[in-house]
Amino acid sequence: MKKIRFTLTYMIYTMKKLSFLQIIAFLLLLTCASCGTQDDLIDQPPYEQPEERPDELPDELPDEQPQPTATFRDAPYLIGCAVVPSLLQNNSKYAGVVQEEMSSITPENALKMGALSRGRGSYFWDDADYLVEYAANNRMRVHGHTLIWHTDLPGWVTGFSGTKEEWIALMQEYIHEVVGRYQGSIASWDVVNEAFNDDGTYRNTIWYENIGEEYIRLAFEFAHEADPTAILFYNDYGMEYSMAKREAICTLVKDLREEGVPVHGIGLQMHIDMYRSASDLKASIQAAADCGVWVHVSEMDVACNPEKKTDFTFTEKIAQQQKDSYQAMSEALLSLPAHQRFGITFWGVCDAHSWLTPAPDAPLPFDSNFEKKPAYEGITGTFDK
Ligand code: XIL
Repeated sequence: MKKIRFTLTYMIYTMKKLSFLQIIAFLLLLTCASCGTQDDLIDQPPYEQPEERPDELPDELPDEQPQPTATFRDAPYLIGCAVVPSLLQNNSKYAGVVQEEMSSITPENALKMGALSRGRGSYFWDDADYLVEYAANNRMRVHGHTLIWHTDLPGWVTGFSGTKEEWIALMQEYIHEVVGRYQGSIASWDVVNEAFNDDGTYRNTIWYENIGEEYIRLAFEFAHEADPTAILFYNDYGMEYSMAKREAICTLVKDLREEGVPVHGIGLQMHIDMYRSASDLKASIQAAADCGVWVHVSEMDVACNPEKKTDFTFTEKIAQQQKDSYQAMSEALLSLPAHQRFGITFWGVCDAHSWLTPAPDAPLPFDSNFEKKPAYEGITGTFDK
């Protein structure tokens, strides 16, 4: 009792010492501390009644995995595909995949000499123009494929007879016309395609026959004259399986560059099958990079039925093996310095439209219904490694 009386006397004594305003401020502080600030209230979501909990939880939770969030557009290099104008125009699913996933396109056939040239000085531009405009509207890079190749030539060229100088003039005229037309809108070109045999000797093409091996150097010089900003590639297949071809291509590119010829990159087509080892893929990519140029995986597909068996089925096991090949390819490109990764281009959008699938096969990351296959995740899974 004595203690209580002492405490009360002490409180009255203390309050007498405080001013009226100090007491009000103290009371206000007490109130605010218990109710939060104005900002806290604004940030709070409206209160929701929790749903009634089921009495029992289901025995098994659905085993659906969360979808991977990365898309091809998130790649640390540009991913693209070969495209066909009529499919882009008439197939909305096809166009949807290209728009959502691709950062780069390569006309599959529209820029080949057989498609463009209708006679000397006469050209059919419609398809190529459409694709270039499409890419500009969708902020995509266009890779030009291909200027000088031994096949898909118009009749007037295969039937041409002339001196070496006349052949050079024909080639110069063609390259100037085509590259010049798309100066600034086609970023890069496969200037020469498939100039070597698998044993590393020069392929006996119409160009080689009439001009000699010099045709390669000249083609690059003509392309550079027509568009000095374009990135110029030598493109071929087989660097992953033929040491002789790998050696021949690297020697050509290094020699030309030493002579000051504008060769800026090597395109490795990579029409491979799922049995190709990851070390072969990596070694060929590294060999190209060792030439000090851009590296483009320019026409990739992974055949699952290279034997072309008529009773082929795309099983889960095959899907995984194919996924490993795509993953290894992306890892190989990512092992290069960023300034040498030109990108990966798939040769087609989905399995149904691949150049390989008159035979039963499933070579691309999207199936015939434009659904993502395990291969897709094989690639996207490498992005943050
Ligand atoms: C193929 C196209 O995909 C086919 O549609 C066409 O009928 C023939 O050419 N290497 C190349 C590509 O450089 O141009 C080829 O494209 C595939 C092999």
